[in-house]
Amino acid sequence: MWVVRRPQELLDALPQHDNQLRDPNSDEPQQPEYAQNAYRSVKPEIFVAVGLCTHLGCSPTYLPDSFGEQVQGVSSGFFCPCHGSKFDMAGRVFQGVPAPLNLVIPPYYYVNDTTVLVGADKEGA
Ligand code: FES
Repeated sequence: MWVVRRPQELLDALPQHDNQLRDPNSDEPQQPEYAQNAYRSVKPEIFVAVGLCTHLGCSPTYLPDSFGEQVQGVSSGFFCPCHGSKFDMAGRVFQGVPAPLNLVIPPYYYVNDTTVLVGADKEGA
């Protein structure tokens, strides 16, 4: 499971490469309804995802500084070393790679301002 803090400049950059993505609007059911938004998260700055490639289940590597070697013009993301799939900082899969779908966003909710509970939806939500 990944929990990654995303700075504002990274959030601002997310829409700029939508045209390179397979499912930029998260139309496929890879996330709970409350994470089907531009950031694929409850709080924009906190990204929660299942760290398994949607191709054959390897664990992609988080490349916070060197993702540009994988995708020109995109500064950070996740690269799967098994067969080369690439995902952006919202876990959205790039076109032309083996992985067919965006990374899975699990059910989760904030118990309080600093604690996230992963694996369940908030009761009554
Ligand atoms: S398992 Fe990730 S690209 Fe094949």
